[in-house]
Amino acid sequence: MSALHTLYDEETIRKRVTELGTEITAALADKQPLTVVCVLNGAMIFAADLVRKIQLPVFMDSIAAASYQGAKSTGELIIRSGLKLNVKERTVLLIDDILDTGLTLKKTYEYLKNQGAKEVYTCVLLDKIIPEEKYFQATWAGFRMPPEFVVGYGLDYDEDYRTLPWIGYLK
Ligand code: IMP
Ligand code: MG
Repeated sequence: MSALHTLYDEETIRKRVTELGTEITAALADKQPLTVVCVLNGAMIFAADLVRKIQLPVFMDSIAAASYQGAKSTGELIIRSGLKLNVKERTVLLIDDILDTGLTLKKTYEYLKNQGAKEVYTCVLLDKIIPEEKYFQATWAGFRMPPEFVVGYGLDYDEDYRTLPWIGYLK
């Protein structure tokens, strides 16, 4: 592994997370009761910061998802750990770290709808500009980023770098 370059520093992330919290608070104010669902492990740090900027009463839950790349490029996603709370008739805000192909968000969205969620909104911190054609688009995205592999602020490379306070790319 070679050098790590800063893409978004702590201050930039902090400001954007605060803005997202303000936008989400305004948009979902009349959508209560609200349940926030974090996709583990990557989104745990972003979700922890974001929920404290959402000025609404929320229930918090998480799911764990794993994707498997088969012979086909579409891949497959399984839910390794499901919801603990009941989301029937509730509005859900699904939070993930990064939107790449969109497969993870599409499958987790469908899972939540199958669990009876009334509506599912989605928020990702990062949205890769490539591929342009995605399986799913997020309701909110923090940054539209270049097609780099990034780590930090929850994102990992083979489980390393998750606790880095800023986001960098490996070159
Ligand atoms: P998807 O292609 O949108 O389903 O993204 C799949 C998952 O791959 C994301 O939820 C991330 O956990 C992971 N991922 C995608 N791009 C990156 C990256 O640049 N760094 C770290 N993890 C990534
Ligand atoms: Mg992930």
